[in-house]
Amino acid sequence: MDTSLLSVTILLILSIFIQSNAHGQSLKPEPVGRRTQAVETNKTLHETKTRFLLFRETGRGCQIQIDRLDRLQECGFNSSLPLVMIIHGWSVNGILENWIWQLVAALKSQLAQPVNVGLVDWIALAQNHYTIAVSNTRLVGKEVAALLRWLEESAQLSRSHVHLIGYSLGAHVSGFAGSSIGGTRKIGRITGLDPAGPLFEGSSPNDRLSPDDADFVDAIHTFTREYMGLSVGIKQPIGHYDFYPNGGSFQPGCHFLELYRHIAQHGFNAITQTIKCSHERSVHLFIDSLLHAGTQSMAYLCRDMDSFSQGLCLSCKKGRCNTLGYHVRQEPQSKSKRLFLVTRAQSPFKVYHYNFKIHFINQSEKPTQTTFTMSLLGTKEKMQKIPITLDKGIASNKTYSFLITLEVDIGELVMIKFKWESSAVWANVWNTVQTIIPWGPRPHHSGLLLKTIRVKAGETQQRSPNMINLGRLNCSLLFCIELFSHGSLVHCSAASELR
Ligand SMILES: *[C@@H]1O[C@H](CO)[C@@H](O)[C@H](O)[C@H]1NC(C)=O
Ligand SMILES: *[C@@H]1O[C@H](CO)[C@@H](O)[C@H](O)[C@H]1NC(C)=O
Ligand SMILES: *[C@@H]1O[C@H](CO)[C@@H](O)[C@H](O)[C@H]1NC(C)=O
Ligand SMILES: *[C@@H]1O[C@H](CO)[C@@H](O)[C@H](O)[C@H]1NC(C)=O
Ligand SMILES: *[C@@H]1O[C@H](CO)[C@@H](O)[C@H](O)[C@H]1NC(C)=O
Repeated sequence: MDTSLLSVTILLILSIFIQSNAHGQSLKPEPVGRRTQAVETNKTLHETKTRFLLFRETGRGCQIQIDRLDRLQECGFNSSLPLVMIIHGWSVNGILENWIWQLVAALKSQLAQPVNVGLVDWIALAQNHYTIAVSNTRLVGKEVAALLRWLEESAQLSRSHVHLIGYSLGAHVSGFAGSSIGGTRKIGRITGLDPAGPLFEGSSPNDRLSPDDADFVDAIHTFTREYMGLSVGIKQPIGHYDFYPNGGSFQPGCHFLELYRHIAQHGFNAITQTIKCSHERSVHLFIDSLLHAGTQSMAYLCRDMDSFSQGLCLSCKKGRCNTLGYHVRQEPQSKSKRLFLVTRAQSPFKVYHYNFKIHFINQSEKPTQTTFTMSLLGTKEKMQKIPITLDKGIASNKTYSFLITLEVDIGELVMIKFKWESSAVWANVWNTVQTIIPWGPRPHHSGLLLKTIRVKAGETQQRSPNMINLGRLNCSLLFCIELFSHGSLVHCSAASELR
């Protein structure tokens, strides 16, 4: 039922996205922006419908214009500070969305190093049918480039101090601004927030945002779930670093089932909020990185979300991890890097990633439950009873690797506690407890042996010093063990001690 509701959601948003298809325009990627060339004359650059706004500490923006230095002054432009320019996306209703003001406020209030904050308001050109809005992106990109050239010539603002943040179609507008600015130097940085997919996916780098468009390009992909061959957000990597939170296809807290919570938050706008939820999550993750400077979300290079979910990708060696959002480490690479992370469903979005590798030896004849809970005790906090299920039974002599994410910072991991969560294990436990009574018959291991545990924390890059090796310790079936992460087993409970 969940999935059918989800399909409806996606169908809805895609049908809005591609409604102009009904007007006979093709959905092939090539024509993007080409036909705008004819319109782009000296005249349109001056009689444009695009407005450029600058933001002072308060207020809804102050309009600036090319060739009007006086306006720059009046709007509080400071050419010794960098310029961050927000570019919105396609619009259904012609109203600037709320996230814009949230992002402006965060940029204005949260940065230790202040910046000029601006907005490219191209709403008049963005509220057409999707395909028409798409064809306007190249034109608006050129207008942005013209503004930046003028700022460089007249106000001594170096283009390398410019950061464009484009959402959805705005990401490609940023790309066109970067590729059309001319000269040998590039814009400093472009951030694409869930760059639009339809008509851009698979197109040539010249027809979309690409790593060539700025000294550094980062992108956050949050709604790439495909429906009938199309996805709202672009799936392919298009920057130097491409972030795929929760795999990038869909975001936690965005199900139709969350509609009631959205109604409480957004009132009548709940339905559109729910539909846009995953797409707009890219923006809120970015805002979150400004609001919570102390808890930045870390993401890790990985092949895909499957490998990431097995905890196999928590390495930070050789630029393999990076910080999501405003404070990304700006390291241009020759090849796009796809980074993955898990997030919470609401702000603060950060989680702490751990990889556990557990090696079992199964010497039991009887089938055993493979569900257990793990409690983690850290120097700051403890997390109780995290449920873990291994899909297929436990095979002997095999290492299981999985990812655990915690919403709180437990500090340095000190102790791990396992507990098998099933009554079926009791008989087995009893067997095992008997075998380790020193005055009993010759020990005979018959049960599940937890041989080794390896732990790695993504955020701190700490790993358990050596493999914690339990095999030597004569503690066969461990229904509840506690151990210190430096490797010494401190407790091996007997059945009777289980509360
Ligand atoms: C636009 O036209 C004016 C006068 O015709 C000219 O001075 C100016 O350089 C032109 N601008 C561009 C960008 O071509
Ligand atoms: C511009 O920014 C610089 C650097 O923060 C600051 O020293 C200067 O006072 C600012 N100028 C104005 C006019 O606010
Ligand atoms: C251990 O192996 C036995 C025999 O191969 C199997 O029946 C049992 O299910 C296995 N135990 C677990 C926990 O998978
Ligand atoms: C487990 O596997 C390793 C390598 O595959 C092998 O060397 C070892 O003998 C095996 N141990 C057991 C108890 O089967
Ligand atoms: C395990 O226990 C048996 C019997 O109690 C003992 O002979 C053996 O040395 C122990 N092994 C280790 C590694 O402690």
